[in-house]
Amino acid sequence: MNYPVYLDYNSTTPCSPEVIEAMLPWFGEHFGNAASKSHAFGWVAENAVEEARERVANLIGAKSKEIVFTSGATEAINLAIKGIFEWYAQRKDNQHYITCQTEHKAVLDCFSELEKRGAAVTYLPVRRDGTLDLELFEASIRSDTKMICLMWANNETGIIHPIEEIAKIAEENNVIFFTDAVQAAGKIPISVRGVHLLAISAHKFYGPKGIGALYVRHNHSLPKPYAQISGGGHEKGFRSGTLNVPAIVGMGKAAEIRLSEMQGEYHRLKELRDKLEQRLIELPNAVLNGSQHGRLPHVSNISFGGVEGEELLRKVCQKVAVSSGSACSSITPKPSHVLLAMGVDPDLGRASIRFSLGKHTDEQDVDDTGDWVADVLEILKKQD
Ligand SMILES: Cc1ncc(COP(=O)(O)O)c(C=O)c1O
Repeated sequence: MNYPVYLDYNSTTPCSPEVIEAMLPWFGEHFGNAASKSHAFGWVAENAVEEARERVANLIGAKSKEIVFTSGATEAINLAIKGIFEWYAQRKDNQHYITCQTEHKAVLDCFSELEKRGAAVTYLPVRRDGTLDLELFEASIRSDTKMICLMWANNETGIIHPIEEIAKIAEENNVIFFTDAVQAAGKIPISVRGVHLLAISAHKFYGPKGIGALYVRHNHSLPKPYAQISGGGHEKGFRSGTLNVPAIVGMGKAAEIRLSEMQGEYHRLKELRDKLEQRLIELPNAVLNGSQHGRLPHVSNISFGGVEGEELLRKVCQKVAVSSGSACSSITPKPSHVLLAMGVDPDLGRASIRFSLGKHTDEQDVDDTGDWVADVLEILKKQD
């Protein structure tokens, strides 16, 4: 298979060879169940899990006992949102939640579920450049607000929310703060300071797919998410099910590598991204979506006016693997909810491309991408 250039690292990343190597013995030689307390097979597996837990905790500045392994971030998000709702529902409290229109579908779908179950939800708008109005946010907090849920960095635009300020406002108002940090973890330094719940996913930082974690702040007086998967009481009762030891070991290894790699990579990727972006926004009718500042270093979301979105993506993807700013779950692709929330015209939204760079991206990839997108726009113009 002759693969195109890969610029879709926000979608997923390749597992690092060191991660694969670290995982392999846990499929065969060390196959024990980490919950088997009575023999050496179990003890060895449990030790490996605990070492991985420590490494994952280090990546986000948490304590290892605050890490709950899940099957990925979607599950961690469900556990956080539905779990907290159920904690308060037991107490028959009125429940109000605050989130944002540009959150990931996993978050938005959980909230529409909560609405069906009787919760009130405020979906904050964003400015044209994707940033949040903190005054509006603060004004939306009510006496019955139970949780604030705002992502660390947006998966489509790379826009970073001011997490420290949000955490401070949450703390002042005595409200739980949950953040989906999937796109930030392992890319930029993050810390759980001021955060009560935080979701991450290994496959976004060169670890295996199907494994993630929810950070749950250790504090007995705080509400705790109710388990969404019941059974043997694994993971301190937050998430039952036999632990996926190889994946957990892989996530731990990936977290450890990212901690040492990400700082150096930041500048290299930012330079490459900026070079690509400068080239692309000079093309006819190209517009950058999202603020120039406060953005992940490896992400660029650009709309190309005057061309048909589906055709544009199909052609670009022949040589460069990227994602569109549209959801293609229907015959007519819908512009992304993130771009619509930013006030991007629907037609322009459909003709938007997210370029996300990563560890293996080099200057040649960026030059080839610039050339190819320019060629594609020429071809599409001629076809008109
Ligand atoms: C911001 C964000 N949240 C959540 C998820 C879901 O993560 P997972 O693939 O681990 O379920 C993704 C993945 O696309 C994401 O980008």
